[in-house]
Amino acid sequence: MLDFTKLLPLLDHVEYRSGQQLATHFNVTRATIHNCMARIDALGIELERIPGRGYRLCAPLDLLSKKEIVTNLTAEVTACMHAFKCLQQVDSTNNTAFELEQPPSGSFSVVLAENQTAGKGRRGRTWISPYAANIYASVVWSMRRPMHELSGLSPYLAICVVEALHAMGLSGLSLKWPNDIYCNHKKLAGLLIECSGELSGSCKVIAGLGVNVAMKNYRNIEIDQQWTDIKSNMPGWELSRSQLAAQLIATVVAGLQAFEKKSVSDMVQRWAHWDLMCDSEVNIISESGVQHGIVRGIDAAGCLLLETKQGIEHIAIGEVSLRGSE
Ligand code: BTN
Repeated sequence: MLDFTKLLPLLDHVEYRSGQQLATHFNVTRATIHNCMARIDALGIELERIPGRGYRLCAPLDLLSKKEIVTNLTAEVTACMHAFKCLQQVDSTNNTAFELEQPPSGSFSVVLAENQTAGKGRRGRTWISPYAANIYASVVWSMRRPMHELSGLSPYLAICVVEALHAMGLSGLSLKWPNDIYCNHKKLAGLLIECSGELSGSCKVIAGLGVNVAMKNYRNIEIDQQWTDIKSNMPGWELSRSQLAAQLIATVVAGLQAFEKKSVSDMVQRWAHWDLMCDSEVNIISESGVQHGIVRGIDAAGCLLLETKQGIEHIAIGEVSLRGSE
């Protein structure tokens, strides 16, 4: 069996490569090349096949490079990097990250993958993760704060990521509580924070980040909400996925460091700047039922402030949806 990850870098989006040429290169049969192409096809990557000419990609592939990522990290960030895995295919980078040993306090580990076969979203959803299209990254951090103090971490990291994307030139960005990142009112990115450890001691935090970069070259993308990607919103986008990954890793690590040091007192105002739902009439859907009210921002613990007939409620868990849009 020929590994598709060996074949993919040989395919071009301009020149055709014939089945025979590829078979000779790998010293395999043309049937093996054919089967390998079927595997690439199944990943959703658009391929053109012309009888007598061969195969070519419909769009260039921008594969992750561990070397390029490390080159684009500052010495300060690499100095506190414990482990770095840049993988082809995993079920979920959060799951792989959980299996890593806990990094020493003050340092981090990171897992990136080209493709997730069972990417996890919040509230048990699936995070669609096509090959080489987006960023799927999980940062592991030993948090010197007890688990019950972490409610603000997920909105805080979402603020850090939205500000970083804005600094890279993306406009039309906003946040939906607790940590959804929108671009022009469509979902662009999301965070899934998972923790393990003592309720009162320090804990292991996995900060999983998914950012859609270039979904348009993929077939069969079925997502149950309005979604978008960076390249559709910024045609002049020039960063490679590796450069973007480096900036996002640095952003998440800086966010975890700040949260650990409790230097997040400006969180409420920073959230207000990006808040997509502020002053909107919404339903909050959670396991305990549906609550109606008007969104009035977040509190210092990262809870949603919901104005109801009974007064301001501080909501810790739930899904926000605009009234009338469910
Ligand atoms: C959401 O908005 O529902 C959260 C999405 C989080 C997706 C990322 S992709 C990297 C990491 N690994 C996962 O399985 N999920 C997170």
